[in-house]
Parts: sequence; structure tokens; C-alpha cells
Amino acid sequence: MSNVVLGVGGGIAAYKVASLLRLFTEHGHDVTVVPTASALQFVGAPTWSALSGKPVATDVWSDVARVPHVRIGQQADLVVVAPATADLIARAAAGMADDLLTTTLLTASCPVVFAPAMHTEMWLHPATQANVATLVGRGVHVIPPASGRLTGADTGPGRLPEPGDLYAACLHLLESAAPAAPSRGVLAGRHVVVSAGGTREPLDPVRFLGNRSSGKQGYALAAVAAARGARVTLVSANVTLPVPAGVDVVEVGTAIELQDAVTRAAKDADVVVMAAAVADFRPRTVASSKIKKTHAETVAGPDESAPTIELVRNPDILAGLVQARGDRARGDRLRPIVVGFAAETGDAAGSVLDLAREKLVRKGCDLLVANEVGDGVAFGTDTNTVHLFYRPGLAGAPGERTAGPAPKEAIAAVVWDGIQPLL
Ligand code: PMT
Repeated sequence: MSNVVLGVGGGIAAYKVASLLRLFTEHGHDVTVVPTASALQFVGAPTWSALSGKPVATDVWSDVARVPHVRIGQQADLVVVAPATADLIARAAAGMADDLLTTTLLTASCPVVFAPAMHTEMWLHPATQANVATLVGRGVHVIPPASGRLTGADTGPGRLPEPGDLYAACLHLLESAAPAAPSRGVLAGRHVVVSAGGTREPLDPVRFLGNRSSGKQGYALAAVAAARGARVTLVSANVTLPVPAGVDVVEVGTAIELQDAVTRAAKDADVVVMAAAVADFRPRTVASSKIKKTHAETVAGPDESAPTIELVRNPDILAGLVQARGDRARGDRLRPIVVGFAAETGDAAGSVLDLAREKLVRKGCDLLVANEVGDGVAFGTDTNTVHLFYRPGLAGAPGERTAGPAPKEAIAAVVWDGIQPLL
């Protein structure tokens, strides 16, 4: 596993970096946390020390015999600076070496990532932008801040991306730097479409038929694709998560809206990943006013106090994408690559894997990612377990693979690793 240096700047977003540290350590990375003195005003040394399992220092005068101001940077496989404040970016750009983090930055020859977070005005200030440009010019990877709610009531660019997105980007850099890993920016020049979340089918102005999808798995897929250099269109159904950095979002509500958005985006896409939980049925009619307990606008059922709701089938978007892209027999170029997710509980008809295999044949997609779902499993959770199945005879397909339980960001990395050989 890798030696990661986590440099923490003095910003309020330091609290989120504790979760990033957890993601690194849970995946077996050895992490040395190097906070600035002001970072400790936000999150104290005991937190960093307990979570990393190592002592924490901000200056160059602790443990001097082991020359930490040189050794930490020299031994690192990756240095991550988050949150990178305007002051820290300025000091790094100027080549200053007045604390343990800046000396580490000057001695590191591994990939270095900065994740800036600050108020919008500070981020957009020409001084900060010039300093960022200087760092980028020296080969530093800068993960742009996300847009959204800042410390106070104000919103705008300047938010630290979510820990999972940062982890996915860092993992990608570590993989790219490793000798056997895929090349850097492996999805550069590709357009990928990811659907995420759960559709809602309205019954009346206040009610809908929906499902428990949080969008976490789909958002993680979008974040990893963006970190690997792809242009990403994320078709998002009823998700409240922050948008991953560098991703274009199209918000939708119903299955029909999702179909429209995905079909439009798929026209020039290299890959479409359908991670959204799409309603198979919708109410035949949508009541124009709230359905009352007593006189239902819809047809009254056998129990007169309760309406009977008639459902109609929604289009199968995944199967439609496969049909629309061309005829294999004519030798058409099969783009986009179509990836489905199968949410299965297993039943009397078969196990999760049996049902997923059958679904792969029925839908005709290139790759089907099966995940067992249920009470507290997959839907809404931070982790997932998946099995990857390929269309029989598909050129370039690697073997079937199981992954997890693991954070959804790590699962997303496995799924993209499984898609890339098909491109
Ligand atoms: O969002 P999270 O809380 O992180 O949870 C993630 C997840 C469990 C929702 C996700 O990993 C997942 O399994 N998504 C697919 C859910 C689903 O709808 O599965 P399905 O087996 O019903 O459908 C199979 C495939 O067909 C899916 O790719 C689905 O997007 C697609 N589909 C389904 C119905 C329909 N009318 N059109 C479709 O395209």
C-alpha cells in the first residue's frame, strides 16, 4: 500500500478531511498527517493522530533526529493538500519553507494534489488564480472546488469536494503513478453518461411512487470518471448530494424525463452507465388535485375509502439504448458501450447472480453490474458489493469479477476498470 501525506490547511473544511483520512486508512494506505498550525484551530492534533495512528507535528522541530522536514516528502507516494487555503497556495507557489507542510512540498518528488477550499471571492481573486496557475505549471494536480453552500449562508465556487470524490481522484493518481497501472487520464477525450438516483412517478400534486436510491453509487461513478479525465454528463433523478467536481448535471424527476435526458446525452457518448433506479411502472393518470381519503378521483376500488391506482409500464431505457445503437449483424460500430446495474434481492426463482445473468441476456447490455439490495443493503448505504458480468462473446471483455464490500467510490473505480478494456 502507498505512503500518503495528508497536508491539512487552516480552513473550516478541515473537518471533512478527517473522513478523507478514514477512507485512506480503511483501504490500507499509510497516512502521515501534516497539518498547518492554523489547521489545528479547526481540528485538533489528537483527532489526526488517533485516525492516522501516528504522531502529528506542524513544525520542523519535533523528532529532529529523523529529519522529518526532508524524510516525509521524500518517502511519499502521494501528497494531498486539503483544504488548500489561499494562504497555503500562496506559500507553496512562492516556494516558502516555514513549516513542516511547506518543507514537505519542496522535498516531494511524487504526485501532489491540491484541493482548494475558500470563499468564492478569495478563490476568484487574480492573486489566488495566478498562484494556482503557478502550481499547475509545476505539475501539481488541482481538484477545482465544488460549487455550493459555503461556511455562512452564501453559495458559490469554493466548497471542498466531498471526501469520496477526493479519495477517488487521489486513488486514480496513485494508480496512474504505479508502474502496472493504467495510463494517466485513461478516459481523456471520452464522453460518458451516468444516470443516478431514483425516479419519482407522480400520483397527484403531493404524492409519488419512488424508491430508496440516494444516488451515492451513481455520483461516485461520475466522480471517478471525471477524475480519470472523461467529460461526464450526470443525469440525476431526485438526488440531494453535492455535484462532483468537473461534472455536468442534468436534473430529472420521472422515468420519462430520465429517458429523454439520457437518450439526448447518449448521442455522442462513448459509454452510458445506468446506475439510476428507474420505476418500471407509473400511474396511468396523475390526479390534478390531492387525492382525498373519501372521494378518490381515480377509480374507487373494492374498499370504497381507498382508490385503486392503475399502473402502466415505463419504457425500458437500458434496453432502448442497446436497440438504438445499431445492428451487430451489420457490423455497426457499437457505441455507446451500455452498462446496466441489476438491483436484485434473490427469490424463489433464483439467486441474485442467477437473476442478474438472466437480466443481462434480456437487456442485451455489454456489462451488467449486479448488486444485492434489501433492507440497509446497497440502497442509501456508503458501501456496496458488486459482481460484473459481460455480454457473452464481447470483444475485449475481461473475466467476471466480484468486488466489495467496499466504499461506493472504490466500487466505482472497479466498475470503470471493468469498462475501460472495452473502449
Ligand atoms: O443510489 P444508491 O443509494 O447509492 O444505491 C445504488 C443502487 C442500488 C440504486 C444502484 O447500485 C443500482 O443497483 N441501480 C440500478 C437499480 C435498478 O433499477 O435496477 P433494476 O434491476 O430494476 O434495473 C436494471 C437496469 O435497467 C438498471 O441499469 C436500470 O437503470 C435500468 N432500467 C430499469 C427500469 C427501466 N424502466 N429502465 C431502465 O433502464
